[in-house]
Amino acid sequence: MTSNDPTSFANTDVAVCTDMELDWRIDFDSHTITGSVTLKFDVNVDQPSILSLDTRDTTVSKVTSEGEDLKFSIRDAHAKFGSALDIQLPSNLKKTSDLCLVISYTTSPNASALQWLKPEQTAGKTQPYLFSQCQAIHARSIVPCQDTPSVKCPYRAKVTVKNPLVALMSAVGEGTAPAKDDMTTYVFHQKIAIPSYLLAIVVGKLEKRYVGPRTDVWSEAELVDKAQKEFGQTEKFIAAGEKLVGEYVWGRYDLLVLPPTFPFGGMENPCLTFVTPTLLAGDGSLANVIAHEIAHSWTGNLVTNNTWEHFWLNEGHTVFLERKIMKSLTDEENRQFLAQNGLKDLRASVDTFGCDSPYTCLVPDLTDTDPDDAFSSVPYEKGHTLLFHLEEILGGPAKFEPFLLAYIENFKGRSLTTDQWKEFLYGFFPDQKSVLDSVDWKAWFTSPGMPPVIPEYDDTYSKACTDLANRWATATDLGQFKSSDLANFTTWQQIDFLGQLVLKDPFTPAHMIAMDKVYEFSTSTNSEIAFRWLTLGIRAKYEPSIEPALHMVTIQGRMKFTRPLYRSLGAWDVSRPRAIETFEKNKPFMHSTTAALVEKDLGLSKTKK
Ligand code: BES
Ligand code: ZN
Repeated sequence: MTSNDPTSFANTDVAVCTDMELDWRIDFDSHTITGSVTLKFDVNVDQPSILSLDTRDTTVSKVTSEGEDLKFSIRDAHAKFGSALDIQLPSNLKKTSDLCLVISYTTSPNASALQWLKPEQTAGKTQPYLFSQCQAIHARSIVPCQDTPSVKCPYRAKVTVKNPLVALMSAVGEGTAPAKDDMTTYVFHQKIAIPSYLLAIVVGKLEKRYVGPRTDVWSEAELVDKAQKEFGQTEKFIAAGEKLVGEYVWGRYDLLVLPPTFPFGGMENPCLTFVTPTLLAGDGSLANVIAHEIAHSWTGNLVTNNTWEHFWLNEGHTVFLERKIMKSLTDEENRQFLAQNGLKDLRASVDTFGCDSPYTCLVPDLTDTDPDDAFSSVPYEKGHTLLFHLEEILGGPAKFEPFLLAYIENFKGRSLTTDQWKEFLYGFFPDQKSVLDSVDWKAWFTSPGMPPVIPEYDDTYSKACTDLANRWATATDLGQFKSSDLANFTTWQQIDFLGQLVLKDPFTPAHMIAMDKVYEFSTSTNSEIAFRWLTLGIRAKYEPSIEPALHMVTIQGRMKFTRPLYRSLGAWDVSRPRAIETFEKNKPFMHSTTAALVEKDLGLSKTKK
């Protein structure tokens, strides 16, 4: 491979993509997208050359340049990264010449970026549904491209779907036109250069509601009013982001609530954030995920990791900004409380991978590694911890927030590596060289396990959670607790309380019975609370938790909940057979990424993690 991205076949030394135009027809009968992509390139060579693009499972029928057919071949599939598409470029190519390729192709029904849902799998039950998830390396399954975040380009798209379905993309809609056979063509334009992983499409029977001056929320009719209420704070989050890191440049910020198999909490597709319906708690309490995806508008979407090895640049900075946004709507104590909470997710990831696992390094080596397999809270929370630590030693928010703004200004529209980030940091703080030199960079970047420094976070909000968790962990008399113990707890304090207990020695079934009697967590409809309550129960070998845990992994597929629940269920001999049976039964309806990872989590696949 000639690009320095170990997960891509693109030889970006030959040419770099500068523009993309898609013409797609969505076929729900064959589960395929058929059409063409027109790619423009800046050429870097003078001699006849082969251009290699990324594909996965696609059938390419034709490649042309200025109306002339070009020779091409598709290499045998690599186990993790798909197949290189090698194109023989025109022989008269010059460094200065424009290169424009038109590739005609059809996707596979198994395209890894797509989930096709039958009408029965939707809320409305009458129309099919299609959604994409391209991050990290799935864009290649829906479009031949240089599928590396080091390359960015704007795009236009024409998408033809059957009526009455609606198509949306990670771009601004520019209208519709009727097409033959009772179909409609939707037109989109993303003017800002984006990496391939931010390409996104959804097709379904979608409705929208007003949420704010630049935000509508889209979903199936059954959820749309609930979603409108849940995300009412969106404009405040965007405005808070703008105060910290500059203008929101993407025009629209719409939201899309997906069906429950969507594998993530949220995905920062530009102009149209995708979110899981498990955020619909009824009280806006899980909207920090929206703050997170909004923060990506700067860190990730404008300033992008050069390869997936530098993923912490995207996620660490985004979590840092997310918590700054939450702070601006609450207080600094709350920000530190959320940070402390995140540290628990980091501990859980380090425990799951093992503290010596190379995946627990902030900057991992991804040679021959599928980024989906390496995904965890590590880049998020170790990254956030590093930034929080730097803010503390460099003189606090008044000194550090201007750095963030300058970082965005300097790198916007570009992709960068960790070394470039560090060089910019040193350059921004010329008088603080000795402070920066005191940081053990090697340990932060390339040592596995927990971070070398863990800040002492303010405990204003966590203290009550810690005290109550300690009382439960040491109680000999389980009758001492009352429902009023939680009277002054916010949702996140309840989440923290349960999160602390999950990290302690396992409960006994008697604890679970006593706790449910006073706090009634088993009836909670908040997904974060339900997840921790069920985790606590399975660890306590509390049999009444098995059924609701199996239910939770069946009715939704957010990996943050589904994978750890399956792991816990699979680790207890009493629940393991039920977990395997449930997984096998549900697998055909699951998202392919979730299914593949749960299979590994349960130890059912040949390739162990
Ligand atoms: N970009 C990520 C989701 C993602 C990462 C998808 C890597 C595929 C590969 C998104 O911004 C994210 O981090 N979502 C979190 C939100 C949370 C940290 C607030 C999630 O899904 O839980
Ligand atoms: Zn993120």
